[in-house]
Amino acid sequence: MARRRQIYEGKAKILYEGPEPGTLIQYFKDDATAFNAQKRGTISGKGVLNNRISEHIFTALQTIGVPTHFIRRLNMREQLIRQVEIIPIEIVIRNVAAGSLSKRLGIEEGTQLPRTIIEYYYKDDALGDPMIADEHIACFGWASQDEMNDIADMAIRVNDFLCGMFAAIGIRLIDFKLEFGRVWDGDYARVILADEISPDGCRLWDLKTNKKLDKDRFRQDLGEVEEAYQEVARRLGLLQPDDESAVLDLDSHRKKRGK
Ligand code: TMP
Ligand code: ASP
Repeated sequence: MARRRQIYEGKAKILYEGPEPGTLIQYFKDDATAFNAQKRGTISGKGVLNNRISEHIFTALQTIGVPTHFIRRLNMREQLIRQVEIIPIEIVIRNVAAGSLSKRLGIEEGTQLPRTIIEYYYKDDALGDPMIADEHIACFGWASQDEMNDIADMAIRVNDFLCGMFAAIGIRLIDFKLEFGRVWDGDYARVILADEISPDGCRLWDLKTNKKLDKDRFRQDLGEVEEAYQEVARRLGLLQPDDESAVLDLDSHRKKRGK
């Protein structure tokens, strides 16, 4: 088979040209980075699990009317997505104080916030993704005011939906990151949800024990990183109790066969 054209390689994913115009293939790697790639490692089987978890969440969001780039999962590590023009802003939604919010403002990790906070970060690795305000977005034309209104509305809907979805499986959604992209219909652009939603870009704590079930286990060297991702997939009903080794074995089997 002819080699596919690689469009972009990020820290955790690769984008390849898709089978039809306007589509891409999103490949999920096991690579993990933190602190703007100062810390690097691999989380064995993460790509397989994030592909499944993100498929599950994007499909569920589509059923409640949130438009997303997801078309369908192709195999263990790849999904077909719509090509979008990524808006260079990371949208962080916070329900509970943690991470950089706790550090910056001295609010104890785990403090329930009296209201949900939406923050914006400029997507630029060289600058370390600095936090920005609406004013910067408008001033530098990264997105229009209408687009930002749509993004904030969708972010709140996604948050409400995910809080309920995770609560039902005994998980507290502390915070998470979203990315959006534009699709064009002639001269008219529409904003849709892009990238992925997985334990890489969410903080997920066990509702009873507060155990961290997300990438903070990697960031903070807490151990049991793979197990945490598997636990999230299992609770979402994506892995049967004894399935995790089977899933990961199948994946290494595929690799051996050079598929
Ligand atoms: P923070 O507390 O480090 O700002 O992170 C907030 C949320 O955003 C957390 O769930 C992790 C996610 N996130 C990313 O997905 N990518 C990033 O580069 C950063 C800094 C955070
Ligand atoms: N993914 C980001 C990085 O490597 C940061 C993070 O998720 O903590 O830089």
